[in-house]
Amino acid sequence: MATMITNAAILLSTLAIGFRMLSFLRQRRSARLPRARERVLIIGASSGIGRTLAQHYAALGVKGLGIVGRRADKLAEVAKECEERCVAAGTEKTEVLALAGDFAEVADMVRIRDELLAKWDGIDTIIVAAGVSALRPLLDIAQDKPGAEGIQRVVDVASLATRGNYIGPLVAAVTFIPLLESSSPSPSILLVNSLASVIPAPTRSIYASTKAASLKLYQALAIEHPHIAFTQFMPSTVEGDFRASAVDGGTARESDPNKTGLKREDVARRCLDAIDYGEKHVWMPWTMGPSHIVYWLFPRFVESRASKKYHYTPPPRPAIQQG
Ligand SMILES: NC(=O)c1ccc[n+]([C@@H]2O[C@H](COP(=O)([O-])OP(=O)(O)OC[C@H]3O[C@@H](n4cnc5c(N)ncnc54)[C@H](OP(=O)(O)O)[C@@H]3O)[C@@H](O)[C@H]2O)c1
Repeated sequence: MATMITNAAILLSTLAIGFRMLSFLRQRRSARLPRARERVLIIGASSGIGRTLAQHYAALGVKGLGIVGRRADKLAEVAKECEERCVAAGTEKTEVLALAGDFAEVADMVRIRDELLAKWDGIDTIIVAAGVSALRPLLDIAQDKPGAEGIQRVVDVASLATRGNYIGPLVAAVTFIPLLESSSPSPSILLVNSLASVIPAPTRSIYASTKAASLKLYQALAIEHPHIAFTQFMPSTVEGDFRASAVDGGTARESDPNKTGLKREDVARRCLDAIDYGEKHVWMPWTMGPSHIVYWLFPRFVESRASKKYHYTPPPRPAIQQG
C-alpha cells in the first residue's frame, strides 16, 4: 500500500512538473499588455494576501490599482503603502483608488464598477482575494444551543460563510465580467481559493464547502467565458490573521500559521506569475496538486493526514439505543 501511494505520488508529481514547464513556454501576458497600461482591481486588499498583492502591483508600475475592502481606514493605509512602493521602485506613478465596499452587496459592486469605467474606461485584471474563515466541527456549532436553536445556529453560521465565500465571488463575477470582456485586450481573473476546496479537512466543513462552491462557480465561468483567462489559486495555510474572521467564533487548532504557514510575499509572487503565464489551476505548495489526486485514489490516507494537521479526534460514538 505504502509503495503504491509513493509510486502514485511520484508519477503525479512528474506530470505536475511537466505541465508547469509547458506553461512557462507560453508568451507572458505582460508582453502583450504592458504593466504601464494594466488596470487592476483587487477585492479583499485591506489585509493579508490581497494587501501584499496590491504592494507588488504598485511596485510593477501598473496604470491603475483599485483596492476594495469594507474597512476604509485600512484601505487608506494600503493606498499609502502602494504609493511608497511606486516611489521606491522608481516606476511610473500608479493611480491607486481606495474603494470601500462589501463584495456581497450588489449596490457596492455596481458603484465600484461605474467608478472604474469613469476613471480608466475599464479593467484588465481582477483578483478576488476576499473571504472568511470558519473553524469548528459542524456539530460542535449545533451544541452551542439546545435542539432546534442549535440547528438554526449552524444555518446562520453557514449563511455568513456562504455570503463571504460564495455570494461575494458571485456578485463580483456578474458585475465585472461584462466590463472586463468589453474593455480589456487580455482579460484575467484570479480567484484566491483554498486547498480546502479540493482536499476536505475536519473542522473546516463549512469553510471548505463554501470555498468549493466558488471554485466550481469560477471553473464553470471559465468555460462560459473562454476569452477571459481564469486562474483558480489554491494555497494551503498562509501566515496572517485570516482565522480572526471566523464566522463561527472558532479558534485555530493547527500549528501557528505565522510560524508554519506560507509567506504572503511568496503567495503574492506566485499569483502574479500564474496570471502572467495564464495558469488555470495553481496549488501552493505545488505538491498539493498531486496530493489532491491522491485523495481520490487513497482517501483514507489523506483523511488521516488532514486529521493530524488539525489535531482532530472524532468524539466517541454514543451508545446505540436498543429498540
Ligand atoms: N490565510 C490562510 O491560511 C488562507 C489559506 C488558504 C486560502 N486563503 C484564502 O485567501 C483569501 C485571503 O485570505 P487572507 O489570509 O488574506 O485573509 P485576511 O487577511 O482576513 O484578508 C481577507 C480580506 O478579505 C476582505 N473581505 C472579507 N469579507 C469581505 C467582504 N464581504 N467584502 C469585501 N471585502 C471583504 C477583508 O477586508 P475587510 O475586512 O476590510 O472587508 C480582507 O481584506 C481568502 O479568500 C481565504 O479563503 C487563506
